[in-house]
Formats: sequence, structure tokens, C-alpha cells
Amino acid sequence: MSAPIDPTETSAWAQLQQHKAALKPDLRGWFAADPDRASRLSFDAADLRVDLSKNLVTDEILASLVRLAEETHVAERFAQMLEGVHINTTEDRAVLHTALRRPAGEQPSLVVDGQDVDHDVHEVLDRMRAFATRVRAGEWKGVTGKKVTHVVNIGIGGSDLGPVMVYEALRPLADAGIEARFISNIDPTDLAQTTADLDPATTLFIVASKTFTTLETLTNARLARDWLWAGLQESGAIDGTDEAKTDAVAHHFVAVSTALDKVADFGIDTDNAFGFWDWVGGRYSVDSAIGLSLELALGPDAFEELLAGFHAMDVHTASTPLEKNVPVLMGLLNVWYNNLLGAQSHAVLPYAQLLHRFPAYLQQLTMESNGKSVRWDGSPVTTDTGEVFWGEPGTNGQHAFYQLLHQGTRLIPADFIAFVNPAYPLQDGDRDVHGLFLANFLAQTKALAFGKTAEEVEAEGTTGALVAARTFSGNRPTTSIFASALTPRVLGELIALYEHITFTEGTIWGINSFDQWGVELGKQLALQIAPAIEGDSEAVEAQDASTRALLDYYRAHR
Ligand code: F6P
Repeated sequence: MSAPIDPTETSAWAQLQQHKAALKPDLRGWFAADPDRASRLSFDAADLRVDLSKNLVTDEILASLVRLAEETHVAERFAQMLEGVHINTTEDRAVLHTALRRPAGEQPSLVVDGQDVDHDVHEVLDRMRAFATRVRAGEWKGVTGKKVTHVVNIGIGGSDLGPVMVYEALRPLADAGIEARFISNIDPTDLAQTTADLDPATTLFIVASKTFTTLETLTNARLARDWLWAGLQESGAIDGTDEAKTDAVAHHFVAVSTALDKVADFGIDTDNAFGFWDWVGGRYSVDSAIGLSLELALGPDAFEELLAGFHAMDVHTASTPLEKNVPVLMGLLNVWYNNLLGAQSHAVLPYAQLLHRFPAYLQQLTMESNGKSVRWDGSPVTTDTGEVFWGEPGTNGQHAFYQLLHQGTRLIPADFIAFVNPAYPLQDGDRDVHGLFLANFLAQTKALAFGKTAEEVEAEGTTGALVAARTFSGNRPTTSIFASALTPRVLGELIALYEHITFTEGTIWGINSFDQWGVELGKQLALQIAPAIEGDSEAVEAQDASTRALLDYYRAHR
């Protein structure tokens, strides 16, 4: 990899500093003076309509931002990623999640480091389809001969957040009498509550772990195996012999991993394992075999439509000029707000209850990717990186934190995501409830952009100190993402959109968005502290004073 380019040394950055100094945000004035602003700053990216016009930018600012992308070689690095260049420098790996969604037969075929990537990806997809078809049809049976009714995915981080989020988003499509559940936390509450009402005879566990070494996942997998054996023995379905237990695991456990040797060590037949590769980062893996629970519950067609959506956004990103390239423009806007205007966080506000886990999913995608202080050559970053992503679905958020968005002192850019057609079209008398919901989406972005002046407040009869309290400054930036309906394809496009926004920001900052060394220290220390929890006095003594005091409290109260 070539040395990262310092964005603050570019000519675009100097221009942006000048724009910042001259900036007088005036969305009311800008819209009044420019009847084409909304249409000029609205873009189509695959099936998404993205309106950037309520952002705090002029055409000149946007031109300088595009220039920043040019000077930091965003498009060139994206092309390198698609080709399999080892842009994950600290792990010396290619970054090829985009290869997971290339259609079969795409030419020229993708061969990287001697691996026929297209062939391998489609081989696993075919196996997933065949397996899902058997399970959904009831041909794959539990040890007592019953059909699977519950699939429980055991995984954490990227091996959990993507599948949960997509399952929740597309749940209305679950059509085979199979419910998916998810266990991630090593807090034993998670496993205990998730399995409490399940019948072991009709439950299939998927142990999902890229490395198959993750403490939480392997601990939960062992607990689940014990739960299965105990339940089957209690009902008389199996006896306690090793043979019977092995047979039970063969019927009720499958695995998804890049480490198939470790899957075998756990006791899962590798014929019942689905692989992927080290060039798929955990947080970019929902479109790999990590999505197996989705194929089982929602069906192979829905999963493949999801992949087609991802691919459509990849094509948009790879082939659209920067000034119309939606992920690049949204990434650039984030840089503008973070690095030039001092924002520290970014709200993502889906007006779709089905997307209630989308902000949590985005937190890993964006913050594990771009929460870095060094660049890909090991030198310190030259700007702030990695804003905090957060959010909740509207309208719930409106009744919780929107007060701060409207009248607080901080700049918080927000993305609103909405769909024209609802999953559940319900009427309240004559009223279309989804229409009312969408009116809220439009109202909020309007209020944030244009506010309410003191004169307008006074014209309503308000006087005195209340006028200031009831005034809205406006000029609070939002992006509106609109699509016809939350289909698998549209969801794939939406996820890929944020993947490539994250890529754009990481490239401008010069960081490797594909490693996560920052999670290692805590994992190591947990293993060192575990014996202290068990009472090992040497391990207790080895701790700092604060940790020792907390251990004392633990011992005194257990
Ligand atoms: O949190 C660190 C991390 O490595 C994530 O990047 C990853 O998604 C998660 O742990 C789970 O890892 P694995 O799939 O290997 O169990």
C-alpha cells in the first residue's frame, strides 16, 4: 500500500477551511434563492432516493469535498479493494466482502492470491441453499424425527448483529414455520432466557464464529450443547451414552466459520459446517455464510435478493462519478461535519420499526472500522476520526432525545430512513396510519432544517421569555433516505451504502477500516482476571487497587 495522504495537507482541505470561516448556515435562504436545490441535491443510488439538500453545504463546499475525495484517492482505493489488493495492511489481507455478492458468472472472474473467489463463494451459497431447503421442508430432522421450528444463532459482534438486524427487518417474510433467535452475550441470562420455552427436539443451533475462538460464543455453544443433551435425556429421547450425545449434536448443531478444524474439535461434523474466508471482516460478514439463520428462516430467495441489493450498491459506488456517488458524498459530508464543523456524533433514525436494530448494527460497522488513532502506515492520524453513531426508530426517538436535536447546543447530523409502503398497512378509521408515520418523518426533517423564528412564535401570540424557549434555530442538517418498501434488495442496498460511507471516511483519514486491534486488550485482561474472580489470591494481588477493591466487593456480596 502506498503511504496515506494527509487530508489536512490537500488543497481541498485549505478550501474547506475557507468555506468554514465564511459559512453562514441559512437553509431557509438557500432554498428560497435556489428553486432547484432540492432536485439538484437529490440522487438515486440503486433503488434508494437520497436527498442531501437539507445539509449545511453550498455547491462550492460540495465541490471542495469532491476534490478532497479525489486528492485522497477514494475511488482508486475502492477499486483496489474490489480487486483484492491487501488493503488490510496490519493483517496483510485482502478485503473482499464485495465478492460475496457478485452474481454467478460475473466476468472477468475474480481470482485473488491464487483463490478462485467467485467459484468458492458460489459453492458455499449453493450448499447453504440446499441445506436451507432441506430444513425448511422438514427433510432435515432432529434426533427424534421432528421438523426444526427454531433456529438459534450463537455468535457475537459481526457474527450476531448483522443476522439479528436483517432478521428483524425482514421478519414479515418468514414463511416456513421457523423462528430465528440469537444468543450473543456471555451473561448467562441471554442463553437461559432465549432457550427457556424451546423444545430441544425441534431446535437447531448455528454456532457462528469467524475465528471459532471467541470466548463468549464457545462458552454459549458448550452451554447450549449441555442444554440440548439434558433436555433430550429428560424427555427420554436419548440415553446418556457418548454415542447418543454425538448423534444429538450431529442433528442439532451446525457451524459457520473460517476455521473448520476448530469446528471439528468442538464436535460438529464439518459436513454440517459452512465456510468463509479471512478476507471477510466480521462486521462485513452478514452476506457470507454468517447469514445462514436468515436463509433458514426467510428462505434462500430472500437471502439472494439481499445479496443482489448489496451488489447493486457496489456497482453504483464503483461506477458513478464522485459528484453523484451517494456513499462517497455521504462520507464526505460526515468529514465536513466532524473535521471542519466539530460534530462528534451522527444520528441514524429509521422511520421503520422493522429497522429497530439497524443503529446497533451500524455501531459495529462504523465504530469498529473507523475508531482508530493511527493510519495504515502506523503513523498518527492527522484529524479526528470515528464519530459516534447512534439512533432509535422514529417516532419513539421523537419522544425521547429529539429535544436535543432541535434545540440543544451540539451539531448532530442525522440520517432519516423511510419507506413509502408499509409492511402492515393499517387504518385508524379513515386514516392510513403509515401515512401519519411518514408525515412525522417529513415534519421532523423540515423542522430541523427550517426551524421557527421568534417572529413566527410571536405571531402566534407568545410573548416574553417564552418566545426564546419556543424558537427553533433550524439549520440542523439531515439526509433523507427514501425507498419504495423495505424489501430484501433494498435492505442490502442500505447496508452496502453504509459500508461504503465508512470506507470513504476511513480512506480520507488514511486509516485501515478493516482491523480491530482495539478489542484485544480487554479480551486478554478478562482471561487474566477470571482466576481472580474464582478466588486465586495470586491473581487478585496482581491487579491494580481499583480492580482489587471491586473484587473485594464481589467476594463480600456473593
Ligand atoms: O469484537 C471483536 C470481534 O473480533 C469482531 O470484530 C467480531 O465480529 C467478533 O469479535 C466476533 O468474532 P468471531 O466471529 O470470530 O467469533
